[in-house]
Amino acid sequence: KKNIVILISGEGSNLQALINAQKAGKIRGKICGVFSNQLNAYGLERAKQAKIPIQILEAKTQPDHIEFDLNLIQKIDSYQPDLIALAGYMRILTPTFVQHYKGKILNIHPSLLPKYPGLHTHQRVLANGDKEHGSSVHFVTEKLDGGPVILQSRISVFPDDSEKTLMERIKVQEHHIYPKVVDWFMQGRLEMRSGIAWLDGQPLTEKK
Ligand code: GAR
Repeated sequence: KKNIVILISGEGSNLQALINAQKAGKIRGKICGVFSNQLNAYGLERAKQAKIPIQILEAKTQPDHIEFDLNLIQKIDSYQPDLIALAGYMRILTPTFVQHYKGKILNIHPSLLPKYPGLHTHQRVLANGDKEHGSSVHFVTEKLDGGPVILQSRISVFPDDSEKTLMERIKVQEHHIYPKVVDWFMQGRLEMRSGIAWLDGQPLTEKK
């Protein structure tokens, strides 16, 4: 079985969706470790409930960003991962980290990329009066939220929406699309080659 390591910083609802999918046999792989850069991340409780080993590394104990990521690599490599899935991991990864796991890191980002990389996506959607919003699963490259997109989900934005209601509706969809993409990867159907995402040998994205 292939090994999955999941990185979180907070709530962990996407982690929960991945745990549930694994339990239901919908992900052909094993979540063998959960890592958090936040001591109080609620997702750590979810991992404990599911009897998945957890590790914590806080920036305050390791302020140098490269040292932090080298430390992280060392911890993660002990699980011999085939895939690193970022699930609300809110710390930017160094090129050192990204190169070490080239083509093996997935992220879920709450916007219709390439729109709104970075933070506060729901706020920016509201401020710009966008009529639609969504979430994207993509391969991680050195460019922040800039790697090739694999799968997106869309929602309509209503006049009475707030950041909170948008976040809630987006998360419901994330919990469907993320496990699906992770399973594609586990089945060996998905890869990143020449800067493009490929599913079943077909290109999914234009090269940027
Ligand atoms: C998710 O909506 C995810 O898309 C977003 O954080 C949330 C985490 O929720 N990720 C980012 O903003 C990455 N920059 P969760 O902890 O409940 O899974």
